Amino acid sequence: MCGIVGVVGNSNATDILIQGLEKLEYRGYDSAGIFVANAGDASLVKSVGRIADLSAKIDENVQGTAGIGHTRWATHGKPTENNAHPHRSETGRFVLVHNGVIENYLEIKENYLEGHHLLGQTDTEIAVHLIGKFVEEEGLSVLEAFKKALHIIEGSYAFALLDSENPDLIYVAKNKSPLLVGLGEGYNMVCSDAMAMIRETNQFMEIHDKELVLVAKDSIEVQDYEGNPVERESYTAELDLSDIGKGTYPYYMLKEIDEQPTVMRKLIQAYTDENNQVVVDPEIIKAVQEADRLYILAAGTSYHAGFATKRMLEELTDTPVELGISSEWGYKMPLLSKKPMFILISQSGETADSRQVLVKANAMGIPSLTVTNVPGSTLSREASYTMLLHAGPEIAVASTKAYTAQIATLAFLAKAVGQANGNEAAKNFDLVHELSIVAQNIESTLSEKDLIDDKVRGLLETTRNAFYIGRGQDYYVAMEASLKLKEISYIQCEGFAAGELKHGTISLIEDGTPVIALLSSDEVLASHTRGNISEVIARGAKVLTIVEENVAKEDDDIVLTQVHPYLSPISMVVPTQLIAYFATLHRGLDVDKPRNLAKSVTVE
Ligand code: F6R
Repeated sequence: MCGIVGVVGNSNATDILIQGLEKLEYRGYDSAGIFVANAGDASLVKSVGRIADLSAKIDENVQGTAGIGHTRWATHGKPTENNAHPHRSETGRFVLVHNGVIENYLEIKENYLEGHHLLGQTDTEIAVHLIGKFVEEEGLSVLEAFKKALHIIEGSYAFALLDSENPDLIYVAKNKSPLLVGLGEGYNMVCSDAMAMIRETNQFMEIHDKELVLVAKDSIEVQDYEGNPVERESYTAELDLSDIGKGTYPYYMLKEIDEQPTVMRKLIQAYTDENNQVVVDPEIIKAVQEADRLYILAAGTSYHAGFATKRMLEELTDTPVELGISSEWGYKMPLLSKKPMFILISQSGETADSRQVLVKANAMGIPSLTVTNVPGSTLSREASYTMLLHAGPEIAVASTKAYTAQIATLAFLAKAVGQANGNEAAKNFDLVHELSIVAQNIESTLSEKDLIDDKVRGLLETTRNAFYIGRGQDYYVAMEASLKLKEISYIQCEGFAAGELKHGTISLIEDGTPVIALLSSDEVLASHTRGNISEVIARGAKVLTIVEENVAKEDDDIVLTQVHPYLSPISMVVPTQLIAYFATLHRGLDVDKPRNLAKSVTVE
């Protein structure tokens, strides 16, 4: 949701913080700030808007050997300078950055902070006032004060705290919000996302919930809230600085759309052996075989990827699949089958809604599999099993390559389980071959960018609304395609089951309303969708068709090579990603950073 960076023991603290915050920009934010200090001096700089606005306020006097920085995405209080982090205690001695939501902040204010002067409306400011009070009014040491505050604070948080009188130590703690320690040479760092530090190091150390960490320039001390020491090994992150650059691309989204054929091939490498046989962890296969029902839980695009795999998983594993929206199930679990297994799909592996479901599933003893792009992410650590997407960092807020990688990864699971069960369809499903065809097919779609750009210009440049329609799996792709279009171009767009139009929605069709119809290879479904296309044309709609070649007609707009029906959502979605991209460009908007959205949604 928002980002944290901290560094101790490096005289370039200001640069490290700014560069780290720039790497976190993709997560979405509306204000930012840094605090840097050395033995005698300290500076706090904050700004509403972009990191570039913050940098413009920083001069050569803003220097230090330690510092903390933050990008904020407003939750409590508007995006203003006073609400931007870092926040200071009453006397200004303590400085804090925070991700998450402190649920009892108003109670804390009422019970502990009478007479304190708060500059903004944030829950974070209350936390740092509380810590300052315990040191300055009650005489506790900083560590005791921090611990005491952590015992009082309820909710989700990742905290990084600096004492400006002794800036050679960052006090860190987390609960439900991601935070990592980064190990430099002669200095150390903290961050909410490894990407913020990958320029400096690829050595990281996890922090678990309800742990407190003292980060000094040459030591890391982890303890629980009672003060018991915790042993923790560091690990090497398989991230490369070049993975997170835009290269010659104008936008990350376009780069990530273009990377999809490579991702498909990487997945083939990751999930096959030297004889081209599909290989999935036997423990995962066994867990799926033992389940009487698979429950896929996810949010947004990842939820749509779940739908796109439902038929394949059911047919190949002979196990019913049910889907749930994480933010709904986190509060109320429906009646479950006798032997459920949960599959959590999450690009980031940090989505708070999905984590809430996982915490409940773990408490109920339900086996779980996380399908994620981020090794070591919270959902990966806390689930029984993990399958990785191997898609490389996804920076653009609008998810593209993660969606297609999620479907492909679950295809490997479906194939492996089905084969182990002796399912005939699974045995005959030559996934490696079929996925190679998909990769080639995506490549030909990508070579038609100019055509798609042209079609979009006339259709979506000025419209206020639009519709995607399709039947069967095309309906699931329509859901994802419409999310992609609305989240970045701000066109109000809905994805509909084509047959449902006549039950209400068709009343919205008027002269010039754009309707994009998806018709993959199923001839019966395609012929019914053709009927629905005629109905909307008769009411004035402007129709664009995306079809697979075996059901194509002469005047179809975008014709794709036919792929295996289980994998058609992967190839059908790519033109819709490009449609969203070009529509957004033509409307003069920032493709990678849509308003109000964050890349990783770590609040519920
Ligand atoms: C849309 C998008 C979101 C995410 C959703 C879940 O383009 O990216 O809808 O899919 O916030 O995020 P993850 O997959 O990280 O759990």
